[in-house]
Amino acid sequence: MTTRGLLGLVASGCGGVESWFRTELAEPAARRGWRLAITLTPTVVPWFEEAGELQALQALTDLRIRWQPRLPSQPKPYPTPDAFIFAPASANSVAKLALGIGDNQALTALNEAIGVESCKVVVMPQANADKRRHPLWETHVTTLTDAGVVVVSEVAPGRLLDLLDT
Ligand SMILES: Cc1cc2nc3c(=O)[nH]c(=O)nc-3n(C[C@H](O)[C@H](O)[C@H](O)COP(=O)(O)O)c2cc1C
Repeated sequence: MTTRGLLGLVASGCGGVESWFRTELAEPAARRGWRLAITLTPTVVPWFEEAGELQALQALTDLRIRWQPRLPSQPKPYPTPDAFIFAPASANSVAKLALGIGDNQALTALNEAIGVESCKVVVMPQANADKRRHPLWETHVTTLTDAGVVVVSEVAPGRLLDLLDT
């Protein structure tokens, strides 16, 4: 299959993610011709494991799913992706990303992509009203948007893939 390029898919600890991330986002992305570089936050790894999803996700890509940083002796496993979709993005991860905190592999990869002109970064937060009430929530979203990140409200995952074409 011709590849559109390398797509970084990132997921964090949001309710229900283990039931739709593969079928509604990762598989459609692979069908559209993207080579997938999947990175999970450490929080969500056991959720995928418990749901029996990790293996099925891994089967979609030749690149090992990441959630841990490499050792200094190890080479970077693949180049910076051509685009990123971070969905769902927890309130915790949105806040950390806006502040430039890279305390896990998923945030490190995203932080390094922000501001790279050739790399579109789409973020779909999933946060309820209790989380959005935090006094810095809007500031975090604005910070990301001002930096060129496409922050979208909750949409069908297929729509996120459409955004990469616009
Ligand atoms: C079952 C469950 C569902 C959760 N759903 C959400 C959610 O939809 N959005 C959110 O922002 N946090 C949610 N949380 C809280 C996050 O998982 C928590 O803040 C965690 O630290 C996020 O870590 P991460 O951003 O590194 O994945 C949920 C927690 C649990 C246990």
